[in-house]
Amino acid sequence: MNDTITRDAPAQAVEAPAGQKKVFLKTYGCQMNVYDSQRMSDALAADGYQPTDVIEDADLVLLNTCHIREKAAEKVYSALGRLKQLKEDRAAAGRETIVGVAGCVAQAEGEEIIRRAPVVDLVIGPQTYHRLPQAVRRARGGERIIETDYALEDKFEHLPAPKKASVRARGVTAFLTVQEGCDKFCTFCVVPYTRGSEVSRPVSQIVAEAERLADAGIREVTLLGQNVNAWHGEGPDGREWGLGQLLFRLAEIPGLARLRYTTSHPRDMDDALIAAHRDLPSLMPYLHLPIQSGSDRILKAMNRKHTAADYLRLIERIRAARADIAMSGDFIVGFPGETDADFEATMQLIRDVGYAQAFSFKYSPRPGTPGADMKFHVDEDVKTERLLALQALIAKQQLDFALGLVGSEMDVLIEKPGRNAGQRVGKSPWLQPVIVDEMAGEIGDIVRVRITKAGSNSLFSEPVRAE
Ligand code: 5AD
Ligand code: SF4
Repeated sequence: MNDTITRDAPAQAVEAPAGQKKVFLKTYGCQMNVYDSQRMSDALAADGYQPTDVIEDADLVLLNTCHIREKAAEKVYSALGRLKQLKEDRAAAGRETIVGVAGCVAQAEGEEIIRRAPVVDLVIGPQTYHRLPQAVRRARGGERIIETDYALEDKFEHLPAPKKASVRARGVTAFLTVQEGCDKFCTFCVVPYTRGSEVSRPVSQIVAEAERLADAGIREVTLLGQNVNAWHGEGPDGREWGLGQLLFRLAEIPGLARLRYTTSHPRDMDDALIAAHRDLPSLMPYLHLPIQSGSDRILKAMNRKHTAADYLRLIERIRAARADIAMSGDFIVGFPGETDADFEATMQLIRDVGYAQAFSFKYSPRPGTPGADMKFHVDEDVKTERLLALQALIAKQQLDFALGLVGSEMDVLIEKPGRNAGQRVGKSPWLQPVIVDEMAGEIGDIVRVRITKAGSNSLFSEPVRAE
């Protein structure tokens, strides 16, 4: 997807073929938004909209937004500011442009967006994407639309199934949302308000979608959920299934060589899920398990309902089940009341765990969340200082992890052509890009390689030839 929202060049009035319109979709934020954008794109294709990377050609510009931190929403408002000119230029050439805002900012701000950004014709929340084509049609009729109710019907049932050609055009890996929403109410987090309470998709729907993906040539599926390991549903055996059982079922689908899931909450890692890590070779040995802070006092204020020791014990159990599992996490620095000692506890926890990767953020007060109203907010300068120290530690761990792989053999899923001729880029079981010789195999193949060199962001390899 194109990363720039506007261009300097004036809009070119290129007529789309009759009945064929174009949509420019820009995605912000998490992987679930990436998945949602694909489903919206499929739904719009059924209504005659072809995707374009050239914003000036777009009859519909849709921003799929993120509200998790402050800057994300501000980026959306400045993008909308830039769209005003584009819309005027196209109108001068006799072409209508519908501007829509989807995603979590749409859900959280609703009418505020319509008030603050007159360029917007359509605001649609994540629970009503199945109504998007109809909302666009109404917007073309001159209405300004706000669709942010939590729909009673199951949106997934009403969204068209992903088409084989469009699935494969996106690559050999795919996301599949199995769960949405969150009931945990961490005090810093806006997700329970923007995505609503936890909903799990039924087993049959998930299996059918995974089979379609495999049939289209997808080799790796990442199951998505805000709180994915809280997924549950009734299995075909009439029993209540958790994510562990679901993974066992998906592992039976021919062609799906790799399974992943994200994001997990430490409180919902049950025995069946840990057993899946032990018993399923296709479940990749990589786990994103955010803790946010290493200080029990801060964890309590965050309403995480677990301690640092609980988390460390859990990791011990997971590592006992799957020794080569690599850990990833999320950290927030500068939560209200965080002292130097609290921050040092976070640094110590990171040293104790040893992460292969981690994401870290300065605390950003979100309106309507309990954290925003807490006392003792931390100075920006202190947040910056802590973030830099934490990121330096994580960067060192990430590099150490990569260097530790030099000389070892691993399976790599070949994903795309490399930057240099004769090379391809694949992915390691631990989500690292691996540079592979073109002769090693085709896109979609899983090849055995030996790692020859490692940097922080990629590994270099040579094929291991059968003797
Ligand atoms: N401020 C900073 N980081 C946040 N996250 C969620 N809410 C906030 C916030 N208000 C981070 C958490 C979460 C990740 C997706 O984003 O670390 O796990
Ligand atoms: Fe937000 Fe995750 Fe906490 Fe849910 S579990 S409230 S999504 S941080």
